[in-house]
Amino acid sequence: MKFIIANWKMNGDLALVDEFIEGINDIPSDRKVIVCPPTALITSFNKGKAFSIGAQNCFYEKMGAFTGENSPALLKAIGCEYVILGHSERRAIFHESDEVIYKKWNAAISQVLTPILCIGETADQRANWKKILSKQLSNYCGNKFSDLHGTIFAYEPVWSIGTGKIPSTEEIEEVVCFVKSLLGSSENYCVVYGGSVNSGNAADILGINGLDGVLVGSASLKLDEFKKIII
Ligand code: PGA
Repeated sequence: MKFIIANWKMNGDLALVDEFIEGINDIPSDRKVIVCPPTALITSFNKGKAFSIGAQNCFYEKMGAFTGENSPALLKAIGCEYVILGHSERRAIFHESDEVIYKKWNAAISQVLTPILCIGETADQRANWKKILSKQLSNYCGNKFSDLHGTIFAYEPVWSIGTGKIPSTEEIEEVVCFVKSLLGSSENYCVVYGGSVNSGNAADILGINGLDGVLVGSASLKLDEFKKIII
């Protein structure tokens, strides 16, 4: 089974919601499709659909004076099953630290939202990717590698996001092996790849040994393109 995850970022509108609900209806049984729209669009998906919904962020507190934030429990209540955490855009633009991401990860799993936890090196860090990824993993998950609650780790090299540049399939496979060697052989997590995935490269990427799926940004905003990635 492979995850096909759409990250709409701050894109999409009510018309695109309807297009997706109507257009994505016969998903192959070996695919699990998750659409992560902006928070404001989430309840518009509550009309009967063939795929699951994820949020793009959550806060770590349950409730209180945190203007603009959403708790995992509220996101769950409006129909989310997943939440993207630690995306490089949140780390770069909203200055989210590893410590904050760790708290969000803990809050999400305690409120039964499955985290889609992003890791990945910048262009400058590329030569040191092993060091960067192992630091991110231990900072995000503490020493709880035996207790990962189905976390979907998304390897997203920052230099690949929105650039059209992707690592070779061999390089992605090496990262998957490395991540799995750190996290251990339990069945309670998955590893997907994200960064410039499109209908032209998805089949090759999905064929990588040990990889559990893809996280798709800009190519998930066009229904036809996204459907080609699902199949
Ligand atoms: P991209 O974005 O597919 O547009 O490169 C991926 C992501 O940021 O999750």
